[in-house]
Amino acid sequence: MCGIIGYIGSRNAVPILINGLKRLEYRGYDSAGISFLKNNKIGVRRCAGKIKDLELYIKKEKIVSHVGIGHTRWATHGKPTESNAHPHRAGGIVVVHNGIIENYFELKEGMKKKGQVFTSDTDTEVICHLILTYTQKGYDLEKATKEALKHVEGAYAIGVMNEFEPDKILAVKNDSPLVLGLGKGEHFIASDIPAFLKYTRDVIILENGDMATLTTEGISIFNLKKSKTVKQKVEKISWTPTMAEKGGYKHFMLKEIFEQPRAIADTIRGRFSLEKGTVNLKEFSLRESMLKKLNKIFLVACGTSWHAAMVGKYIIEDMVRVPCEVDIASEFRYRQPIVPRGSLMIVITQSGETADTLAAQREAKRLGAKVLSICNVVGSTSAREADGVFYTHSGPEIGVASTKAFTTQLTALYLFSIALAKAKEKLGAKEIKALFHELLLLPEKVEKALQCDDAVKKIARKYHRAQDFLYLGRGINYPIALEGALKLKEISYIHAEGYPAGEMKHGPIALIDHNLPVLALAPDDNVLEKILSNMEEVKSRGGKLIAVAHEGSSKVRSRVSNVLSMPETNYYLTPIIFSIPLHLLAYYIAVLRKCNVDQPRNLAKSVTVE
Ligand code: M6R
Repeated sequence: MCGIIGYIGSRNAVPILINGLKRLEYRGYDSAGISFLKNNKIGVRRCAGKIKDLELYIKKEKIVSHVGIGHTRWATHGKPTESNAHPHRAGGIVVVHNGIIENYFELKEGMKKKGQVFTSDTDTEVICHLILTYTQKGYDLEKATKEALKHVEGAYAIGVMNEFEPDKILAVKNDSPLVLGLGKGEHFIASDIPAFLKYTRDVIILENGDMATLTTEGISIFNLKKSKTVKQKVEKISWTPTMAEKGGYKHFMLKEIFEQPRAIADTIRGRFSLEKGTVNLKEFSLRESMLKKLNKIFLVACGTSWHAAMVGKYIIEDMVRVPCEVDIASEFRYRQPIVPRGSLMIVITQSGETADTLAAQREAKRLGAKVLSICNVVGSTSAREADGVFYTHSGPEIGVASTKAFTTQLTALYLFSIALAKAKEKLGAKEIKALFHELLLLPEKVEKALQCDDAVKKIARKYHRAQDFLYLGRGINYPIALEGALKLKEISYIHAEGYPAGEMKHGPIALIDHNLPVLALAPDDNVLEKILSNMEEVKSRGGKLIAVAHEGSSKVRSRVSNVLSMPETNYYLTPIIFSIPLHLLAYYIAVLRKCNVDQPRNLAKSVTVE
């Protein structure tokens, strides 16, 4: 939550900061600001609202500066007002911050008693005052920041400037993401790579405790925890700037939905050998001997990634018969889980920075489990702290609503399950080949599933005024019902519930009347007859039924007029195909309701605070 950007170099920093903030806006968008150095004075411009409001606000001034920091906020402490927007200032010190300072209240009270005046309700402002206290003692910015941070507890990534040391930016990382970009005679700090991808693909991913000093000449990094200068590891990022653009689509979400055939193809490319019938385990730092011994798997995640985890349990238990426990990360971390030694935890996270997921991952490690991270962002905290990483190569996901990240997570889980089944000798060579074969056909089938676009638009037009929505699924597609409901809630603000269809009679059936659209996931599988009965129950109570079914499924067509037809796949891959019309439906309903699809209210893309 919250996005940070910083620039030092020979170009005008202001458009670079604004452009960077636009790329980071998915991290928070309730207020924004920049600070810059001009005529040896630091200027701060902030406003409540989005980056375009900030852009408009500063437009007339035509500010030119060669060094600056900026911030887009998702409020934690204090309302989204101008005075609470970052950068915060005390004397000549300005700070942008992502994270939470847990002991800010005590620090603030102590400083207030000494006469320091605070102008915001934020936790961040204490950092400025602390650094100022030390610069006033004659310390340079590095030393002052180092001393100041000794008082601070919590998670933070900060960018700092000092009016009296005009040619540098300081960046410190502790449990919140922060990366550096290296250009020629120019350097960047940012919460996420797309913020400076237009200018450079050479990146340093900071470690916890790293304090980086950026000047036009170079970057030096001192680790505050290790008390020593550390070597910089520069990585070349394969993402291209166009990957982080809308590419002609009205919204990132729609672009990302339509990117799925490519994203899935990239996620499977080079990951298995059809001839040998093997998954390339080395790439994920996994060994067959380790998989062979595995008797228990925990799948942990938040939000949409948690739905992927739920599907993972269905796949693994059905294909390999290894028991799985699925947890929402915020529950796992506090529930005193029983984790037998030698268990594997699979954490699933698009961003790799979700605070609860990271805490759950650390807890599992503390309890002696190995951790495999299924993650989309290269070099993210989850990826770095895990024992193995399965990167989903879906490319940057900018829309707050997760779509292509979800289906590539499911793809990764499918491949992992095959590897496990092979290690445990649960599948023969022929069966494995058939599973791989089906996977190779998946991008094409996803392309075909996307052809339901027009049919989905029609349904969206019919039901976009609904006040509630019900999604029903069974078995491996029950999590897809949850996913459909979550997506609709988060971007259209319609109240929606996902239910296992068999639970209807235990309560939710009371909701059904002629105003309620009910979407049933009815693939041709072992529970088709069961869900058909549930659909009859909905119909006979006047509910408005929509079904997603396999093409040619006459049993569904004879019962329902609104049917979205999906191509056939094997059982394990149906959740990927069946999630496509649900994501599209949420999207089109949100558009018809004139909602801000890519930046829904109250949300942020990466939930980096608890
Ligand atoms: O980055 P992560 O996968 O860890 O994020 C988890 C959730 O915050 C995320 O999936 C969220 O639920 C999405 N907004 C759903 O579309």
